[in-house]
Amino acid sequence: MYTKGEDYCPQAGRVQKIVESMLRSEIIVINSPTYCLEMSGQLKTLFDHLGYLWLTHRPRKEMFSKIGIVLSTAAGAGANRVTKSIARQMFWWGIPKIYRHYFHVQAARWEDVPEHIKKKITQKTDKVYLKVKSNIGKAKPNLKMILYSTSCVKCNNQTPGT
Ligand SMILES: Cc1cc2nc3c(=O)[nH]c(=O)nc-3n(C[C@H](O)[C@H](O)[C@H](O)COP(=O)(O)O)c2cc1C
Repeated sequence: MYTKGEDYCPQAGRVQKIVESMLRSEIIVINSPTYCLEMSGQLKTLFDHLGYLWLTHRPRKEMFSKIGIVLSTAAGAGANRVTKSIARQMFWWGIPKIYRHYFHVQAARWEDVPEHIKKKITQKTDKVYLKVKSNIGKAKPNLKMILYSTSCVKCNNQTPGT
């Protein structure tokens, strides 16, 4: 798939629907529960399918102005790390502005989440909403992205800054 092209992937029919939907969107929101201090296995499998989109492989210029929002909750620990991992994937697709939003909720169901944590979630979510709203359409690739993509051999003018 990396060398021949993404359409040769046996799962291309399903994966490309997701990619097309992401390319059409101004904002890409990805959420995962925290499982054993990591993102879910299903999400990691999707990311493996999307590795061809990395800046060093075959990036898509549509990504270079998008905003990413990454969400995770955990009962006690690990959500910070999960959002970092997901944000790293978005960075490698060339998404320049990424917000991470995570909470340790001391519960496995919303009904059991303590009131003070629910309040904190609402307050922080409102703040992120305002930041995202004011940045739609303004995000630009940073120098790090441009430098990484210079090692891209098959970019066909799909590198940041071209
Ligand atoms: C397989 C599994 C692993 C989990 N691992 C963690 C963990 O490492 N840290 C944590 O704080 N909570 C952990 N939890 C609790 C979940 O993060 C929490 O219940 C989350 O809300 C589950 O989301 P879900 O209902 O969408 O599966 C785990 C739950 C499951 C089912």
